Amino acid sequence: MKLDKTQELLKRDQAVVSPSYPRAAPFAMERGSGAEVWDVDGNRFIDFAAGIAVCTTGHSHPKVVAAIQDQAERFIHISSDYYHPVWVEISERLAGIAPFSEPAKVFLGNSGTEAVEAGIKLARVHSGRPLFIGFQGGFHGRTLGSLAFTSSKSVQRRGFGPPSIGVTHVPYPNAYRQVLQPTSDDYGETVVNYIEDHILKTVVPPEDCAAILVEPIQGEGGYIVPPPGFFPALRALCDRHGILLIVDEVQSGIGRTGKWWAIEHSNVEPDIVCFAKGVASGVPMGGIIARASVMDWPEGSHGNTYGGNPLACRAALATLDLVEDQFMVNARRMGEYAMDALEEIQSRHPAIGEIRGKGLMIGVELVDGDGAKRPAHDLRERLIREAFDRGLLLLGCGESSVRLAPALSIEEELLDEGLRIMEESISTVST
Ligand SMILES: Cc1ncc(COP(=O)(O)O)c(C=O)c1O
Repeated sequence: MKLDKTQELLKRDQAVVSPSYPRAAPFAMERGSGAEVWDVDGNRFIDFAAGIAVCTTGHSHPKVVAAIQDQAERFIHISSDYYHPVWVEISERLAGIAPFSEPAKVFLGNSGTEAVEAGIKLARVHSGRPLFIGFQGGFHGRTLGSLAFTSSKSVQRRGFGPPSIGVTHVPYPNAYRQVLQPTSDDYGETVVNYIEDHILKTVVPPEDCAAILVEPIQGEGGYIVPPPGFFPALRALCDRHGILLIVDEVQSGIGRTGKWWAIEHSNVEPDIVCFAKGVASGVPMGGIIARASVMDWPEGSHGNTYGGNPLACRAALATLDLVEDQFMVNARRMGEYAMDALEEIQSRHPAIGEIRGKGLMIGVELVDGDGAKRPAHDLRERLIREAFDRGLLLLGCGESSVRLAPALSIEEELLDEGLRIMEESISTVST
């Protein structure tokens, strides 16, 4: 593969761009369409990464582009000191798909971490309680509030301590890699029992606990799906102690799992939902949807300059239309198709330890193929590079997993092509 222009760009990048960004592969984008992308050297790639699960409707969907263009000609910005119709419209739409039956209110910002900051602040000011419970392996962002929860890699926290707020981390209910002694047949219930019987009794007095913040499917931590007993038991624990339940749907929301929100797979109603990434197909937007009875903070207590940015609102409205009309169903259908195909691939490759996910949020965990389930980190790194060399963009997650998070619009033919490259790459790197 020719990468001359890419190499040139990488040199310039190295000179002026912050070295803190974690890069997955030397892909320098020129353009994209749907689930395909091209680099500055003209090489084509199938995109299973979608800009970290952001490009819900594919790259530059014509309806999203038209909405942004139309809005740009009217006005680009007015600030949150005033009002405008598309801000109200997108808030109505988001409130209308809230995963709880109570009326909802919406706060808008620009990113996932801002969504989480808003959730944390709202929980504190509403409850009057200072402390939180989070999960090991969780990723919630990199600003100082959300970073107090983030624990998917130590490099994300090293040197940035001490944490700005009191968060006690408990194990995420990963049934494949259990760290707690079972107290129930359902490992999710085991984790909730641990919170009740140990954490609330020793470290976090329940009357001081504002909220539990949790990803309905753990994303950066490895695309881990909790067992069915987890969320019902967690909701019950929150209700017993007046603790708010905040779900971080930044990666799992907006139709990616085949429902608007991943929490809907468990029939549990949260109090606050954090969203971002997929909501505006790549135009920065993030925020929270909360029960109206919870979002009772006073005027001036929280805000920002760009919240309700008109370009983002229009991109989000076009995105929600497309997801509702076509792509949520497609995510469900293509997700099932991919899971079946991956299970077949797994039967030929002992290096695949587990396949898990919902809709188009799928994780493939690589292990040393001797039955001991040891995470195969280096193998995963080699797989990502091999797939890149063969024209497939794949992102890692957790210690030794790769994720499939393509555009929700991906069609069977491209999915097949990508899965074929993935299997060829696994064969190459595991021999
Ligand atoms: C679940 C979750 N929450 C929050 C974030 C932070 O989002 P952002 O990078 O937009 O700040 C991410 C980013 O990957 C995420 O996956």
